[in-house]
Formats: sequence, structure tokens, C-alpha cells
Amino acid sequence: MQPVILRTARLELSIPTAGDVDAIFAACQDELIQRFTTVPSPYERSHAEGFVTKVAGWWDAGAEATWAVRSDDQLAGMMGLHRLGQGSGELGYWMTPAARGRGLVVEAARAVIDWGFSPDGLALDRIEWRAVVDNPASHRVAQRLGFRYEGRLRSALVNGAGVRNDGLIAGLLADDDRAPQSWPAID
Ligand SMILES: CC(C)(COP(=O)(O)OP(=O)(O)OC[C@H]1O[C@@H](n2cnc3c(N)ncnc32)[C@H](O)[C@@H]1OP(=O)(O)O)[C@@H](O)C(=O)NCCC(=O)NCCS
Repeated sequence: MQPVILRTARLELSIPTAGDVDAIFAACQDELIQRFTTVPSPYERSHAEGFVTKVAGWWDAGAEATWAVRSDDQLAGMMGLHRLGQGSGELGYWMTPAARGRGLVVEAARAVIDWGFSPDGLALDRIEWRAVVDNPASHRVAQRLGFRYEGRLRSALVNGAGVRNDGLIAGLLADDDRAPQSWPAID
């Protein structure tokens, strides 16, 4: 699979490269990224170097599609469709602390979801989302994107420090409308 570039009003999404290593290393020191994602903890510079190499291999193998989210040529975050196979994938993301609070993650994710479902992209049937139960910012992002709440996964998510947490799972199907959803079970 060839890496693709996605563009939105404020953002460009493209494959992370060696030129992003310093910015990825700096971003991944963030406490929320370490707590709520699977990045290694503690996060060393070598992890960022290895990551950009792995991302190229994942694109090549068609295993995962991962983009650096760029705003004004600065690294604003990372986003991917992971665990690709049998018509589905899982949306994952983090934003740098400086890029938060401006709706950039929803803007980027809309472009990724459009491409994931598009016949010219991955032609997926389903995109899944999972997050730790006490990560309300991420829940709001998924709700804004139209994901339907599907349940609670007990002790299912393990972060990069090996800490286990309950998770929430939500899903979006190719023909779902993308209107923001309320999740009565947790709202
Ligand atoms: C999750 C994350 C990407 C959200 O990015 P962001 O730039 O803050 O997102 P937005 O500014 O679009 O805010 C998303 C929504 O969450 C809300 N929100 C933000 N922080 C919140 C909090 N602590 N409690 C409740 N709601 C919160 C915002 O008000 C916004 O709601 P709205 O859409 O109704 O206006 C970012 O916080 C992050 O990188 N966190 C660490 C990594 C992570 O958790 N990744 C996701 C793993 S599943």
C-alpha cells in the first residue's frame, strides 16, 4: 500500500519521517499520551526513530495506515487506522499539547474516516474506536465523529507502562450517518 496524503481546511496528513523524530519524542513525554495510549513509557528518542521506520513498513504491508497530522508545517499529532483486516480497522490518535482544544483531531479524523470507507481508499465496512473509561476528551471526539457506543471492555486496555484499564468500545459503519451521537450509557 502506498502512503497517501490527506488534506483538510487546516491540516495536512502525511507519513511521519525521520524529520519528525524530535517532535514525536517531545510530544510523547506528555502525561496524557503516556496514560491513554500504547506508546512506550518511559519514551526514549530511539522509540521515535523506530516508530517512523515501522510506520513505513506497516504502509508497505497494508497492516496499518498512520499519518503525522501537520498544522502550519508543525507536527500537531499522530493518527492511524490500525489492525486492518477483513474490512475493518481501528481509529487511534494523539495530539500534541499545543495543538489541543481547537477541534483539529475531529477535522483530521473526518478525513481519515472518509478515506478509510472510500472505494478509492480502503473500502472498509467498519471502523472501531476504543478508549480508557476516564478519557472524556477522547469520548467526545468519537461522539462528534458519529461513533455508536457499543460497550465497556473490562480491564481490556493496557498502556505502554503496562497499566490495565477498563475501556469503552464504539463503532462506525460505512453507511452510518456521521451526525454527533449521544451515548446515554455514559453521558
Ligand atoms: C484525545 C485528544 C486527541 C483530544 O484532542 P483535543 O484537541 O483536546 O480535542 P478537541 O479540542 O476537539 O476536544 C474534544 C472534546 O472534548 C472535550 N474535552 C476536552 N477535555 C475534556 C475533559 N477533560 N473532560 C471532558 N471533556 C473534555 C472538549 O470540550 C471537546 O468537546 P466538544 O467537541 O463538545 O467541544 C487529546 O486530548 C489527546 O491527545 N489526549 C492524549 C492522547 C489520547 O488520549 N488519545 C486518545 C486515546 S483513545
